[in-house]
Amino acid sequence: MADAIRILVVLAEHADRQLVESALENEVSLDVVGYAEPVEDWRAFLEQPADVVVVASYGHDDAVTTMVDHAVKHRPDRPVVIMSEASPNGFLRQAFEMGADDVITLPQPAEQVAFTLQKVIARRKGLAVPGKANAPLIAVLGPKGGTGKTLIATNLAVALAQRDANVVLVDLDLQFGDIGLALGLSPEATMYDLMRAGTPFDHEKLDRHLIRHSSGVKVLIAPTRPDQASAVSIDFLRDIYASLRTMCDAVIVDTPPGFTPEVIATIDVSSEICMVGMLDSLSLKNTKLGLETLDLMGYDTERVSLVLNRADSRVGITPDDVSTIVGRAPDVAIPSDREIPRSVNEGTPIVAARPSSGAAKAFRVLADRYAKTPAPKPAPLPSGPTGVRALIGRRR
Ligand SMILES: Nc1ncnc2c1ncn2[C@@H]1O[C@H](COP(=O)(O)OP(=O)(O)O)[C@@H](O)[C@H]1O
Ligand SMILES: [Mg+2]
Repeated sequence: MADAIRILVVLAEHADRQLVESALENEVSLDVVGYAEPVEDWRAFLEQPADVVVVASYGHDDAVTTMVDHAVKHRPDRPVVIMSEASPNGFLRQAFEMGADDVITLPQPAEQVAFTLQKVIARRKGLAVPGKANAPLIAVLGPKGGTGKTLIATNLAVALAQRDANVVLVDLDLQFGDIGLALGLSPEATMYDLMRAGTPFDHEKLDRHLIRHSSGVKVLIAPTRPDQASAVSIDFLRDIYASLRTMCDAVIVDTPPGFTPEVIATIDVSSEICMVGMLDSLSLKNTKLGLETLDLMGYDTERVSLVLNRADSRVGITPDDVSTIVGRAPDVAIPSDREIPRSVNEGTPIVAARPSSGAAKAFRVLADRYAKTPAPKPAPLPSGPTGVRALIGRRR
């Protein structure tokens, strides 16, 4: 049997010690090294060896922030989990921003608590670089519909998963999201269901609402009906992004056309943007406008990649024209490929379906910009009876 998890418990002022004890003390796999009472020197207490620090609180206040912050900075390689009775709106987001690894809402059965702590520790061990992991959040933007945002978001996600990255793909096209279709997934759980499940959006709950693609990519599917879209709030999005970024290696967000409030909120928290343009003058004009809007928002251009889709179309616009119209050269060019519509219909992105195609290579070049590990030899995925044919009956 594995060694018991050694836990240091820091109690914030209004924490209910008995409740914390009942969550931690009745499990053989958990070993509480000690409790620091509010009046004690909890900083010195944290010097002791342990596998995880639990900051127990009633709800949220500045003292909790200070404790988490100190525990994180003191030993960046040691996970910190908050245990709290109340979970007011926005608390979870703050907790993750502070650097907490997870939040456990009390009361909870001891074996469930043990399971959460085991996962937190296992996840940390899997990280190549010790320290707080706040995964990159890459927003795929394009001011027009049909430019290839969904194509690029799905292929980028799969290309990263092919390098063993743990990728979560979020479909933010709330009204007409089609990632489920493009990846041949059935919407057994959607963003709408997740929102209905309510706070806190801890890793457990998120995981239950993510649908797994055969590539390993986990997908948060858009609401299945346009009328459900209005229920998705900005606060909800911020909460789930913060939580997702601590449970995977990269979050990719596919967006609807234009700068909707949800898109702006996503841009605000994103670490990188992938701006998609297509080789026609209207699309390029809009791409330029999009880049200018990002500039106005104070977004650092270094963090924006310009992706030109259908780059080889013979439409009388040269790459130089693109630079002139848009004001910068594309970072990655994706060719037109007849296999792409077919791969979309089959529900298998072209990086997996046709790894040796020019388009797949271009997507791997795009993935290079975000990947920590080098590209492996591509291997085609087995294509099952998924895809549009399997889904057609369920389509809106
Ligand atoms: N490079 C390409 N080659 C061939 N077809 C493409 C290419 N890019 C996009 N398409 C086609 O155009 C359609 C629209 O692309 P999509 O990614 O859904 O656009 P958006 O998400 O920006 O609305 C896709 O279903 C795909 O079939
Ligand atoms: Mg789309």
